[in-house]
Amino acid sequence: MKININDQNSYGQINPNLHGQFIEFLGNCIDEGIWVGKDSKIPNIDGMRKGTVDALKKLAPPVVRWPGGCYADTYHWRDGIGPQKDRPISFNENFGTYQRDRHSFGTDEFMEFCELIGAQPWFNINMLSASVQEMKDWMEYCNRSEKTSLSNQRKDNGHAEPYAVKYWGIGNEVWGGGGSMTPEMYADKYREYASAMPTFQKSIFDQNPIYKIASGPDGNKPIERVKWTKDFLKAFSRYRQPGINAMDLHFYNWNIEHESDTPTDFGEDDWYRVINGTRELDQIINQQADLIKEGLQNIPQPESSLDHRLDRIDLVVGEWGNWHRTAFTAKPALKQQVTMRDAISTALMLDILQKNSDKVTMACVAQTINVLNALILTEGDQTILTPNYDVFMMYKAHRGNSALKIQTNQDQKNVYTFASKKDGEIILDVINANLNDQVKLTVELNREIESISKDFLQSDRPTDFNSSDNPDLIRMQQTEVKDFSKGEITLELSPASVNVFHIKTI
Ligand code: AHR
Repeated sequence: MKININDQNSYGQINPNLHGQFIEFLGNCIDEGIWVGKDSKIPNIDGMRKGTVDALKKLAPPVVRWPGGCYADTYHWRDGIGPQKDRPISFNENFGTYQRDRHSFGTDEFMEFCELIGAQPWFNINMLSASVQEMKDWMEYCNRSEKTSLSNQRKDNGHAEPYAVKYWGIGNEVWGGGGSMTPEMYADKYREYASAMPTFQKSIFDQNPIYKIASGPDGNKPIERVKWTKDFLKAFSRYRQPGINAMDLHFYNWNIEHESDTPTDFGEDDWYRVINGTRELDQIINQQADLIKEGLQNIPQPESSLDHRLDRIDLVVGEWGNWHRTAFTAKPALKQQVTMRDAISTALMLDILQKNSDKVTMACVAQTINVLNALILTEGDQTILTPNYDVFMMYKAHRGNSALKIQTNQDQKNVYTFASKKDGEIILDVINANLNDQVKLTVELNREIESISKDFLQSDRPTDFNSSDNPDLIRMQQTEVKDFSKGEITLELSPASVNVFHIKTI
């Protein structure tokens, strides 16, 4: 295979928010995964599992979405503030969680968690079983700097300064568990909630610091997702618009048809089915970006300069990842092991997001800990980093860089590439998704090369995973690459491997 990279061919900046995370009170994501309690024997920081906090601090995810997901639609924020012993207990049945929520990890704990790991929060409001007033109050509690009853309450709970939460999701999967709404119903409801949102602007001409995220389509139902975006934007365009900053697409790579395929036991066909399923994300993003563009054209622009002008709606992917069949019967709910197959697929999804950074601005993997496509799995007091964690660490190097166009001169099946540049360095990802074949790749550059280092992830078997018995079986490794001439590199890539090259140019 041969590719050509010209570092002048850049086409967009990689929004660091594409490397976001998603956490929810579901299975053991928050309870056990993050919250262990202040009196726990498990080392913790104010009740939060130290292993998780330390690992995420290193990763520094730019954004974390919470409290759901489906759980957002049963979540009442007031249950999660104030003295922990006084907080009410509710029950979560979602996806077989079947667990009590003592609300130990509420708004202030979530904000402390975000601060500890260096992330911005994305709150998803409860549109199904709360009210416009409850949403408004939550926003006031988080963001009001002037003295009000709610900002005083925040102060009493230890946080005098407003949290300045920017990202607010209005509804979750509203076509499904979030209300089984039609696009028309949702457009009406969205208007109500969005219009009622406080702006925290001191003057009407100030920039609105609130970023409103509408529930987008179900990424896996081809016809419905087209219909959803078209019909929602059509209904939304009918009257004066209360503003919408982004539509939130969810993309799960479903692997649920074949009983014999489990997260840790699968064959060659299963491997390629999952890899190929991953690639669908590319087509979906492009299709959705086009639909949003078309929809925007039909939205009449306001006559008065005081009215909001809607000339851009971003596409965000609030949930993405592999969903294997066994997750549905897993205890704790939705927990699944993460093998090299998932790592390859995760790397590919990140590359697809980055490649489309002119179309997608934010994305959150579902979910960070103990649920679905996890980066972290916990077993008792052990905090195990899955190979997905390493992929995210390896890809950190792309954040904020300019995406580069790659010209492929000779294609090779199941090999995927992506490149970006920053300050005299080209970062090149090469995923060899071939299960058995080593691949030779020639890279031609428009610049002279000074040095090359390689981060890589691979294992002896595709079904390998990190476990409590062998927590570091799959770990990122590093090496120097010597085989290059002036502007050309020859690379040998192991089967089933993720490779990130740091190419310093002169
Ligand atoms: O991530 C698990 C669940 O998947 C979320 O709660 C929901 O939004 C989606 O259906």
